[in-house]
Parts: sequence; C-alpha cells; structure tokens
Amino acid sequence: MRSTRIVEMLEVTEAAALAAARWMGKGDKHAADTAAVEAMRKAFDNLDIDGQVVIGEGERDEAPMLFIGERVGCGGERIDIAVDPLEGTNLTAYGQPNSLAVLAFGPEGSLLNAPDTYMNKVATGPAAADVVHVDASPTENVRNVAAALNRPVEDILVCILDRERHTDLIREVREAGARIRLISDGDVFGAVATAIEGTGIHLYLGIGAAPEGVLAAAAMRCIGGCFMGRFAFRSDEDRARAEQMAKCDIDGVLDMDCLVSSNEVAFVASGVTDGELLRGVKYFGQGARTHSIAMDNRTGTVRFIETVYRTGTEKFWVRRD
Ligand code: FBP
Repeated sequence: MRSTRIVEMLEVTEAAALAAARWMGKGDKHAADTAAVEAMRKAFDNLDIDGQVVIGEGERDEAPMLFIGERVGCGGERIDIAVDPLEGTNLTAYGQPNSLAVLAFGPEGSLLNAPDTYMNKVATGPAAADVVHVDASPTENVRNVAAALNRPVEDILVCILDRERHTDLIREVREAGARIRLISDGDVFGAVATAIEGTGIHLYLGIGAAPEGVLAAAAMRCIGGCFMGRFAFRSDEDRARAEQMAKCDIDGVLDMDCLVSSNEVAFVASGVTDGELLRGVKYFGQGARTHSIAMDNRTGTVRFIETVYRTGTEKFWVRRD
C-alpha cells in the first residue's frame, strides 16, 4: 500500500465532512447523512483502487450507496474498506460535538465483516492496552487503567454512551470513583479519544454499534491501543446474519487480531462538528477548512491535517446552493 494512498483517502473523508457540515444544526439527520454518503461515494470514483465495502451503510437492498459488498474506485489494488460517512448523524443535525466522517482500509480480507448489531466494547490507549478486557468488570478495568497510568482512580475519565442499557455500568464506574464523560452518540470518537493525549479521556466502556467497533479497532491498531469487543445480539436474526457474514467465533471475544487482521491498515477521519479530537468544518466565503486525523500502521504515523478547499476548484465538492 503506497503512502500517498493516505492523502487520497483523506480527500474522501474531507469530501464527506464538507458535505455533511452544511447540514449542521438543521435538525435533519437523514439529509446530513445522505449528503455525506453521496460525497464519499463520488470521491471514491477518483481512486485507482478496487475497494470492497465491508462496513458500510447497510445491506444492498437498504442502502443505495456504499452498501456492504459494493466495489468502489476505478480499478487497481484490491483493498477492504470500512466507512461511516457520517458518524453521529444526530450530533451534526443538532450542532453537537464530535461528529466525524470516518473510514478505515487495509488489504483484502483484513477487516471483520461485522453485521449491524450491537457490540460490547472496551478501548484504551497504548499505556494501558494490556490491562483491560471486555469480560472484566468496569471496576477492574477502571482500577487497572489507573494503575497503568500511575494515577488515582479519581483522575480517570471514562467515556460512555448515555443509554438506559448503561444504567448499571454508569453506577459501577461512579462507585469505583472514576469520572464519566457521557456522550449522546458517536462512540468511534469515544474509543479513539482514549489514545489521543489532550482529549482527557482514558477509557471507553459500553455497548454500541458493531460496525463502528471495527472502525475504532482499526484506529486502535494503528496507534497501539487496545480495542476489544463481544457481539451483543439484539435478535435471532442479528445472530444469523453474523454467522453468515463474520469470519470469527461470533460468541467469543473479538480481539484486535479478529477485528483487524493485518498490520497494513490505516484509519482516516475528518471533523464535521467541533470536538476534543478534531475541529469541525469552517466555511469562510471563499472556501472551507477541514481538520482530519490520519493514522497509518505501516509507517507508525499519526497525522493531524488541516486542509483549505478553495471555492470553484475541482476539489471543492460542496456548492453553496
Ligand atoms: P448514527 O448512526 O446516527 O451516526 O449514530 C451512531 C452511534 O451513536 C454510534 O456511534 C453508536 O455506536 C451507536 O450509534 C449507538 O447506537 P444506539 O443509538 O442504538 O444506542
């Protein structure tokens, strides 16, 4: 995989972010999502890849673009691609922090084909990567992270999706003494933030969407952190779909090797709305400015990239009308 591929993929998430951010605060999450999907799909057309969407917008019959199994690009290297053109549709629609345009890619067969079900997740950065486990209690995980980071439990900040299903989890984390950052949506951010200094988040815990788990795992693989999951099926149909799709023990622990089975993976995300990880899209009349992160496991690099798109140029994907 050549290094310039990262820049090409950046243009794909930037395109999605530029399109989605026009819908910030307009209360229409479907329009925001559609704009991101269309822009991302179009941006892929320019790339000399033979990419297969393994994590996408859903099944072929429910998603017109970027559906699971769709091939993107104009031909070339065969790669797996996981996309979430707009991670946090509500966050964008209501102008809340940390919505992202996200993708991960790697050699063919490297990304787990996860069905649209739930996944119990734990994630933390490199310093505590060896001491957390998806089957450990929240108390154990919190204490182990505190010990690995050489600080009291009271200093640990745990990110959790604000959902009723997390009532017991939240209570236990509070009793353990840690602080909590509740998020209304967007757990790719929650997981990845644990590995980025400055976000203040040390541990991510809880149940979220499985496809987002694969995206977060790709980022954590690149950055040397830990992501571990376990499917939490909502129905027998979900389970049957997982049996069909996922090449792994669907009842077992989904560790990094199972979720992302190659070292040649990369993760790219662009901010749609402002957040602790990335700044959102800024429009300024003559153009727009995006802020992105690109992680490349082959080179061990994490880049933060600011890009200015000038209105009227070929690459300025989003018109003002
Ligand atoms: P969107 O699909 O609307 O962007 O929501 C994404 C998300 O918040 C994920 O980050 C999270 O994993 C999942 O939804 C949680 O699902 P649920 O809302 O069903 O709890």
